[in-house]
Amino acid sequence: MATVDSALTVHDLTLAYGETVVMRDLEFQIKHGEIFLVIGGSGCGKSTLLKHLIGIEPVPRGKVQYGEEDVNDVVTSEQIAQKLGVLYQSGALWGDLTIAENVALPLSYHTDLSERDIADLVAFKLSLVGLSGFETFYPYEISGGMKKRAGLARAMILDPEILFFDEPSAGLDPISSKHLDDLIREIRDCFGTTIVIVTHELASIFSIGDRALFLDAETQRALDIGKPTWLRDHSKPKVREFLTRGGGHEPKV
Ligand SMILES: Nc1ncnc2c1ncn2[C@@H]1O[C@H](COP(=O)(O)OP(=O)(O)OP(=O)(O)O)[C@@H](O)[C@H]1O
Ligand SMILES: [Mg+2]
Repeated sequence: MATVDSALTVHDLTLAYGETVVMRDLEFQIKHGEIFLVIGGSGCGKSTLLKHLIGIEPVPRGKVQYGEEDVNDVVTSEQIAQKLGVLYQSGALWGDLTIAENVALPLSYHTDLSERDIADLVAFKLSLVGLSGFETFYPYEISGGMKKRAGLARAMILDPEILFFDEPSAGLDPISSKHLDDLIREIRDCFGTTIVIVTHELASIFSIGDRALFLDAETQRALDIGKPTWLRDHSKPKVREFLTRGGGHEPKV
């Protein structure tokens, strides 16, 4: 079960919607400060796993633990906001709020900080993601990559121990996607944040993943877990094929 260096432990987890099972027998640990990827074909259950990990879908069978705490206990408390930050696929910014107001939302909701302190923290987080000066812009006035970075600033505003991303590069051009990857790695290196990313972007998989978990829809099982380059070269044929799409090797980024 949970070990000291484990930020998140998954034990005998089944993913399901009602009676429909998506994935079974999941068993893995995510280490503190690790960039951990969840990969696999479309519809295999990556987003569903993320929802179970952050507690917005109840766990039908098995356990998800943060340190010694069960996810069900964590999510019912206020600590959830402090522990976990989430960047959803769409970025999910409120269109009628400015960038600064969007990033400030969790602080207004979860803390008693003064407006002045909130403004300072928002300015700091926006500077970290390269958006200083865009405080008063609305989401429709900035690019897709900037929206992702604003979403990241909001996910980080309460200094979470673990950050979750669902397809962070979706809809971004390769350059913006690489900038986002670089930013994610800098955040882990500077703050020691544990980072869990659902992705099927090969460039991201090889450039930022410490380890990856491969989910297979056909067998409803995780087929392998390990360093992306190791999986590409030594794993089961289905995993190797997924990681060498295009018949090439590790893409140059
Ligand atoms: N709210 C839901 N209710 C019932 N079934 C769902 C629901 N959401 C997803 N599913 C089903 O669960 C399975 C896994 O879906 P999920 O969205 O987790 O896959 P995914 O790996 O994230 O796919 P993609 O790469 O396309 O985002 C799919 O068969 C999907 O149709
Ligand atoms: Mg998905």
